[in-house]
Amino acid sequence: MGASRLIHDVKRTHRCGDLRKDDIGNRVTLMGWVQNRRDHGGCVFIDLRDRAGLTQVVFDPQVDAAAHEQAAALRSEWVLGVSGKVRSRGENINPRLDTGEIEIAADSLEIFSPAKTPPFLIEDGIDTAEEIRLKHRYLDLRRPELQSNLIRRNRFNQIVRKTLGDAGFLELETPFLIKSTPEGARDYVVPSRVHPGDFFALPQSPQIFKQLFMVSGFDRYFQIVRCFRDEDLRAERQPEFTQVDLEMSFCAADDVKRIIEAIFVNAWREIAGAELKTPFTNMTWDESMSRFGVDAPDLRFGLELIDLSEAVAGAEFKVFSGALGSGGVVKGINLTGVGDFSRKEMDGLIEFVKVYGAKGMAWAKIKADGQWQSPIAKFLSPAHRDAITAAMELKPGDIAVFVADSLKVANQSLGNLRKHVAKLRGITKPDDYRFVWVTDFPLMEWDEENKRYTSAHHPFTAPAPGSDELLKSDPTAVKAQAYDLVLNGVEVGGGSIRIHQAAIQAQVFEALGISADEAESKFGFLLEALQYGAPPHGGIALGVDRIMMLLCGTTSIRDVIAFPKTQKQTDLMIDAPSSLAPHQWQELRLRRAMVKSSD
Ligand code: AMO
Ligand code: AMP
Repeated sequence: MGASRLIHDVKRTHRCGDLRKDDIGNRVTLMGWVQNRRDHGGCVFIDLRDRAGLTQVVFDPQVDAAAHEQAAALRSEWVLGVSGKVRSRGENINPRLDTGEIEIAADSLEIFSPAKTPPFLIEDGIDTAEEIRLKHRYLDLRRPELQSNLIRRNRFNQIVRKTLGDAGFLELETPFLIKSTPEGARDYVVPSRVHPGDFFALPQSPQIFKQLFMVSGFDRYFQIVRCFRDEDLRAERQPEFTQVDLEMSFCAADDVKRIIEAIFVNAWREIAGAELKTPFTNMTWDESMSRFGVDAPDLRFGLELIDLSEAVAGAEFKVFSGALGSGGVVKGINLTGVGDFSRKEMDGLIEFVKVYGAKGMAWAKIKADGQWQSPIAKFLSPAHRDAITAAMELKPGDIAVFVADSLKVANQSLGNLRKHVAKLRGITKPDDYRFVWVTDFPLMEWDEENKRYTSAHHPFTAPAPGSDELLKSDPTAVKAQAYDLVLNGVEVGGGSIRIHQAAIQAQVFEALGISADEAESKFGFLLEALQYGAPPHGGIALGVDRIMMLLCGTTSIRDVIAFPKTQKQTDLMIDAPSSLAPHQWQELRLRRAMVKSSD
């Protein structure tokens, strides 16, 4: 083939998104991938793509016959270099492209790599199954949308480094091959070859190490760090995910909050072009549970939960009286303003709350004359219906839903229903950003299944001052000096002021049912470190993947992670996890013996 002028050693002069009207007449060299090829009026047209954008290139036989001849072979995703003069597109301006006013009249072409036909089109808005895209992730990552997400992620990391660096934080690393850290998930473990039969655990977070940094005197630490948690995956979770992890000494919760707010203000200004108001709102955990039913409230809309236990007191309706009689509650939501729900849609909502343990859900539509249309109307006296109407401020046209159950189930089911209805009816905007600090969490929860107390955050979180007695008498009533940051109903960060006194740490371990022996074997090094002069300290970790998901306006955390795992914890591209080679089993002195799940 008659290659025209070889540009092999020529470096590119611009990226494919750079050229504008002002560049007309200049000779340039671009390199990139063929987005598409069209033959038109004796010329070959291609759009050349790199991560900066697209530029139209014309191979015109009048300009260079050899390059034109060569261009006839080009196909999508081939990698090329082209040189030529920038010229005006005249009448054929493409207003959708930044480079839409110009094109390159190519006089030389070098094909660096031909390409097989890709399994899907490299463009946004394709409906190819995610499995196929994940198997060829490197191709999916060529799509502008994913490129832009990762580029924004890079910006976010840079802003974190700048903001924290300017505030005197040191970026320090912590090890990955460690032993179990208690963040509530299962550990990923790594067998040791040198110590057959022993295992490292991958960190669920750098929690203990960052506290040890404080003991060492590195009073402001941060790290953008990978964490590993073997847990059942949901939409907002990945088995390995990234935290902005930080810790400070001689600080109060407010100091931690202010530095985190600075990161968000800078990031939102630069990446979303939005000015956030600070300080962010605070809400206690009690208030959040009572009004929104969950600890991660979405404050973009109302639809609050209303406790109707008083309004329905004395009602004979068994569903209500039964719940109240066994210490439960009746709570409801006035779904005002989200439109009507057909019978079938209402049945769908009832199925939805059952996932959260509700045994059922009653509803009432308020007719124009103020009367109730409701399967439970006949079970309630006019006085009780009036009391509910008043408590919920029900007006004609409104629909109310009710759940009678334990407080926990009523909150969980209605709290999640609230978010579900908002999503169904599209009443939220992704670029309406409502941040809230949820504070005063309970220190411990009662785990009914295992009959023991567990930490609500982690066992190093400090109880509220003056909780000594309560720790012994009523541990679930103790509040923690813990705070979560919630954005639009998603928990994007969590942290606490820590225990810095060995005696209190021992007391909390005891309340958690962790014996002195167990505490010694698991965290003896921390307990000892606390005895060598530990400063008061506290910190937080932000979930970078979740933040990027919200910042990029996508609904999947996988859209902001370069090489994510599937919901089943697999990597379809590299086929992981997979078995070991025979020699690896031998070296590790492991033998494969599958244990039945029932054993
Ligand atoms: P926590 O467990 O709350 O706190 O984690 C902090 C933040 O990390 C994010 N996150 C996740 N993101 C994606 N996939 C997951 N599986 C996942 N799990 C957690 C969330 C969460 O708010 N050591 C403490 C922090 C501290 O106390 O300083 C910790 O890890 O956005
Ligand atoms: P039942 O007595 O089971 O026929 O229920 C009567 C009405 O109460 C039906 O409309 C049910 O959907 C509703 N209901 C059932 N269980 C609950 C519950 N736990 N909370 C609220 N409403 C319920």
